[in-house]
Amino acid sequence: MPANRKAYRAALLHSLADPAEAGIEASYEYFEDGLLVVEDGRISAIGHASELLPSLAADVEVSHYRDALITPGFIDTHIHLPQTGMVGAYGEQLLDWLNTYTFPCESQFADPAHAAEVADIFIKELLRNGTTTALVFASVHPQSVEAFFEAAQKLDLRMIAGKVMMDRNAPDYLTDSAESSYTQSRALIERWHGKGRLHYAVTPRFAPTSTPEQLTLAGQLLGEYPDLYMQTHISENLQEIEWVRELFPERKGYLDVYDHYRLLGERSVFAHGVHLCDDECARLAETGSAVAFCPTSNFFLGSGLFNLPMAEKHRLNVGIGTDVGAGTSFSILHTLNEAYKVMQLQGARLSPFKSLYLATLGGARALRLEERIGDLRPGSDADFLVLDYHATPLLSYRLRQARDIAEKLFVLMTLGDDRTVLQTYAAGRLVHQR
Ligand code: GUN
Ligand code: ZN
Repeated sequence: MPANRKAYRAALLHSLADPAEAGIEASYEYFEDGLLVVEDGRISAIGHASELLPSLAADVEVSHYRDALITPGFIDTHIHLPQTGMVGAYGEQLLDWLNTYTFPCESQFADPAHAAEVADIFIKELLRNGTTTALVFASVHPQSVEAFFEAAQKLDLRMIAGKVMMDRNAPDYLTDSAESSYTQSRALIERWHGKGRLHYAVTPRFAPTSTPEQLTLAGQLLGEYPDLYMQTHISENLQEIEWVRELFPERKGYLDVYDHYRLLGERSVFAHGVHLCDDECARLAETGSAVAFCPTSNFFLGSGLFNLPMAEKHRLNVGIGTDVGAGTSFSILHTLNEAYKVMQLQGARLSPFKSLYLATLGGARALRLEERIGDLRPGSDADFLVLDYHATPLLSYRLRQARDIAEKLFVLMTLGDDRTVLQTYAAGRLVHQR
């Protein structure tokens, strides 16, 4: 079979390392007039157009974008499928927000037709915003995971998801039991984990809504299958932290609850971590766990400011998360704009190259997928974006004043959103065209 080869000519930018470790200049690679060659769903070459074009076979189709930037697809390390219909729920902080808005909204996923309809909307929204991989909370209903994976599989997306485990402190209509959560998760793992580009995440919602029995079984599941993910929430809100102390008085703190039940590890992602202390960051880093930084959510629920410099000090893996529906946008560009302000409010800086890293290679490292996604190196999955420098009149005008790629990138992150994403490719296939 002849290889299915295509080439894309544009400005190309991708991260090579964390700027906090490598320094900014060594953290990225940029080709002003670059060529990306894709073969059978993988990247086969990247370089200057002038160097690669002469050796390209004559029959390879070249798409040429004159005012656009190609980057890796964005990676959203924390988002909730069943909260798509409740973005912008007014007035409450975390615990009241869950009871007033979230639980009733998630209950609709008992209906498989509803789950299928929202899964379709949700995936389209991810792709419109340039997100090619996400770590996704489904609802407590196994059919919500089925609906999501079925929709993701049709487009051959690299996605990670899991059924929420929640057997206390939530309405009866939305709780499972320790045993049913184990059996249902297991069945989903058997059916989906490792199928194509799909992966399963064991998903206890957060410590307050799981009994010790359920947390024990979650830890057991992680030991029973290789390469499973674990996702949950941690230290997002002060009232929540106090509640965990009351529910688990025998543990040293919030993270220690998860540690005790063997939920830390290289494929464990903890959302928020706004109020983590130094020791907890050190323990997360030591176990190879990651944190999802969710700025729009932390602002919207009034949760607080994530301390990225502290995470960097501990060399803790951090990805960026939209956390829709507490987060207010599916757009990773918009989320990075808010992340910048989180740093500003703490007297710190967020360079555009660190933002790029968080949204791509850093997210891939948090998910231990850096051999597959997160950059444009030969061998990586061809998950990439074409970002349009003329997406809006203001962006177009503002970018004309920009002197270099650092400034262009920062402006894209400040003014950009879904309109900026002209095309999204997954495994070499066009999955969104604006
Ligand atoms: N903590 C437990 N559940 C949730 C949720 O759905 N969203 C957020 N932001 N925090 C949580
Ligand atoms: Zn969340």
